[in-house]
Amino acid sequence: MNQLLNKIALTLSQSQIDLPRLEARRILSFVCHKSEDEVALQERELSMAETQILEDIIRQRKAHKPLDKILGSKGFYKYDFIVSEDVLSPRPDTEILVEEAISLLPSDKPQKIVDFGTGSGCILLSLLAENKLWQGQGVDISAKALNIAKQNAALLGVEQQVRWINKGWFDADLPQLLDSPVDMIVSNPPYIPSQDIQSLDDEVKNYDPLLALDGGEDGLNHYRQIAQVSAPLLKEGGFILLEVGIHQAQMVADIFCQAGLHWVKTVSDLGQIARCVILKK
Ligand SMILES: C[S@@+](CC[C@H](N)C(=O)[O-])C[C@H]1O[C@@H](n2cnc3c(N)ncnc32)[C@H](O)[C@@H]1O
Repeated sequence: MNQLLNKIALTLSQSQIDLPRLEARRILSFVCHKSEDEVALQERELSMAETQILEDIIRQRKAHKPLDKILGSKGFYKYDFIVSEDVLSPRPDTEILVEEAISLLPSDKPQKIVDFGTGSGCILLSLLAENKLWQGQGVDISAKALNIAKQNAALLGVEQQVRWINKGWFDADLPQLLDSPVDMIVSNPPYIPSQDIQSLDDEVKNYDPLLALDGGEDGLNHYRQIAQVSAPLLKEGGFILLEVGIHQAQMVADIFCQAGLHWVKTVSDLGQIARCVILKK
C-alpha cells in the first residue's frame, strides 16, 4: 500500500499537516484494522466501504480536526485511550507525571490515589493498570468527561479499582465525598491564562474543551483551590504530583507550600520545561 500511503501523506502535507507520513500510516492502519507495520507491507486494494471511511477521515483532517479526535483514540503511556471532544486529548508531557507517581508508590501495598480533573482518566487509569493493589478516585466537574473515563476503565480492565466523583474542587461537599486520607494526589488541572486561550493552536482551542484549558486570569486559579482541598486529604508522608504550564513551576510550588506541603522536586519534560511539581505532606 506504499502508493496509497504516499498519496495520503502528500494530501495531508498540502494541507500543512505536520508529520504527514506518520499520520498516513495511522489512518490506513485504522481503516484496514491492521497494525501500522502490516499496512506498510500489505499490497491490496481498499474495498468501497474502506475507501469511503478513508475519504471521510481525510476530509476532516484537511479541515484540521485533530487526528485523535477523528479516530476516537489516543496512545498515552502504555495504553490506547478513548477520546472525544468532551475530554482533553492526553499529551505526551503528562506521561512524566505517571512515571514519577509509579516510582514513588510502594508496589507491595494497597494505595489510595485521587486524580483531580481526571478527564479521559489517562493518568489515574495508567497507574491502576500498573498495580492491582492500588485504588483510585477520579474527580471531574464534567459528567461527559467521566463517561469517557468510565469507558477507558473498562478498556483497561480496572473498573473494580476506581470510583468516579462528578464534582468540582470549588464544591464545598467534595471532601466528604472522598474516601480519605489518601496516599497520593495527582492532578493536571486547567492552567492556561484566560487571555492566552485565543492564541492557542486551532487544533487545541477548537477541539479540546475550554473547561480543560482555562486556568483563570493568571492560569493559577485551580491550583489555589486544589491546594486548599488537598492538604487535609493527604496522609502524613503522602505525595501530590501536579502538571504545570510553562513558567508556573515555582509559583505552583509556593501555593502548595503555603498550604502546608513540602516541596520535593520539579521534573522537566523533554523540551527542558519544568512540567511536574512534586510535594509531600
Ligand atoms: C487539563 S484537563 C486534564 C485531563 C486529564 N487528567 C489529562 O491529564 O489529560 C483538566 C480537567 O479538569 C476538569 N475540571 C475543570 N475545572 C474543574 C473543577 N472546578 N473541578 C473539577 N474538575 C475540573 C476538566 O473537565 C478536565 O477534564
